Amino acid sequence: MAVERTLAILKPDCVEKGLVGEVIRRIQDAGFTLCALRMKRLSVSEAEAFYAVHAKHPWFGKLIHFMSSGACVPMVLEKDNAVASFRKLIGATDPAMAEDGTIRREFGTSKGENIIHGSDSVGSGRRESLFFFSECEIIANSA
Ligand code: RTP
Ligand code: MG
Repeated sequence: MAVERTLAILKPDCVEKGLVGEVIRRIQDAGFTLCALRMKRLSVSEAEAFYAVHAKHPWFGKLIHFMSSGACVPMVLEKDNAVASFRKLIGATDPAMAEDGTIRREFGTSKGENIIHGSDSVGSGRRESLFFFSECEIIANSA
């Protein structure tokens, strides 16, 4: 299987609930390698730019308000089949519909406030990673 990269974001609810360490532990225990990591509070315009693909949805305003409400922790992750494997680890968008044992099922509170983001393709992952990190900040083969 091919090694891929994906972008994860520990969302403001994850930071607010003090779950950053717990969620990173689960990500590393699942075999993902950290390539880049930082803490950042998105401005409203940065959140709108990051989630521009969702601009037409009725819940866009709520999403932007939430994503700019506090600090988040974006990170670039590497693993075989990283995109699909990470989305399996985090579970469905709505925590109530997510499989038992997934991060969203365990810690999410609603479809909007669902703890964590994962890219939906390798291409999105690359674009999203470059939103938060410069090329030279993304380090291959780290731990
Ligand atoms: P993400 O991009 O954050 O990893 O989530 P996803 O692929 O599972 O879901 P997506 O459809 O891309 O939606 C992006 C984020 O928008 C919020 N959302 N709220 N009905 C709602 O209130 C609603 N639907 C989506 C969630 O925070 C979702 O993760
Ligand atoms: Mg998505």
